[in-house]
Amino acid sequence: MARTPSGIKGFDKLTQGGLPKGATILLIGTPGTGKTLFSLEYLTNGAQRFKERSMYITLEQSLDDIRTQAKGIGLDLTKHEKNGMLTLMHIPITELTNKTIELIKQEVQKRKIKRLVVDSLSTLAVNAPVYSPIKDVALRDIMNYKAFFSPPILGDFVVKRFIYSFLYDLKKLGCTTLVTGEAPEKGEYLTRDTVSEFIADGIISLSFESMGGNYSRSLLIRKMRGTKADEDIHPLEITKKGIVIHDLRK
Ligand SMILES: Nc1ncnc2c1ncn2[C@@H]1O[C@H](COP(=O)(O)OP(=O)(O)OP(=O)(O)O)[C@@H](O)[C@H]1O
Ligand SMILES: [Mg+2]
Repeated sequence: MARTPSGIKGFDKLTQGGLPKGATILLIGTPGTGKTLFSLEYLTNGAQRFKERSMYITLEQSLDDIRTQAKGIGLDLTKHEKNGMLTLMHIPITELTNKTIELIKQEVQKRKIKRLVVDSLSTLAVNAPVYSPIKDVALRDIMNYKAFFSPPILGDFVVKRFIYSFLYDLKKLGCTTLVTGEAPEKGEYLTRDTVSEFIADGIISLSFESMGGNYSRSLLIRKMRGTKADEDIHPLEITKKGIVIHDLRK
C-alpha cells in the first residue's frame, strides 16, 4: 500500500512508513494534547520535504493564531504559504452549511491539494444542528414553527447525519486527510459524535497525563486500515524544533 509519510520524528516507523495514501484519519485527544501542532507539522513536512501541496482548514482559531502557534515549534508557515505549497483557510462557524464540503472540494481541486487537515470535527459537530438541513428543513426552521420537537434527540440525529456525510464526502476528495476531534475522557466510544470512528480509515489518539516523569503526552494508534500498526503507547514530546514520538522499548 502506498504511504504518505508524516515526517514527524518517530511516527512513520509505527505505521509501516506513514499514513495510508488517500486515507481519512481521525486525530483525537482531549484539549492541549497536541492535535493542532501535530497536524501543522504533518502539512509543513508535506510541503517542504515531500513536495505535496497541503491545506489546513480551521473552524476555530484565527490564521494569525495558527501561524504564531506553529512558530513555537519551529514551523514557518508563511514561507510555505508564499511559495504556494501550503494554504491556510479559516471557515467561521457562522458560515458553516451543508455546502461547506463543496467549497473545500473546489479549493482542493484548484490547488491540487494532496494533504488536508480539518481542525476540528468537534466544532463542526457542535454547530451542525443549526446549519444542516434535513432535506430542505433545518432545525432553525423547525424552531420557527413553534412546534414541539425534542431538540436533544433531533439534534443528536442531525449531528450524526451531518458528520457522517461530511466525512464520507471528505474521503472522496482523494487527499490524505487528518481530521482532529475532541475525545471523551471515558466511555464506550472514542469520539463524542460516536459515528466518525467507524467511518475513518484510522484513529490516532493523543493523551495527556502528568505523572511527574519526563513525559506527560502520549500517542496511541487505535486503528489503521491496511496497516500493521504499532500497538504500544508512545510518549509524545512537543519541542521547539517540532514533535517527537519516543520509543521506550529502546
Ligand atoms: N514549544 C513548545 N514546547 C513545549 N510545549 C509546547 C510548545 N508549544 C506548545 N506547547 C504545548 O502544546 C499544547 C498545545 O498543543 P495543541 O494546540 O496542538 O493542542 P490541541 O490538542 O490542538 O488543543 P485544543 O484541543 O485546545 O485545540 C499547549 O498546551 C502547550 O503546552
Ligand atoms: Mg487544537
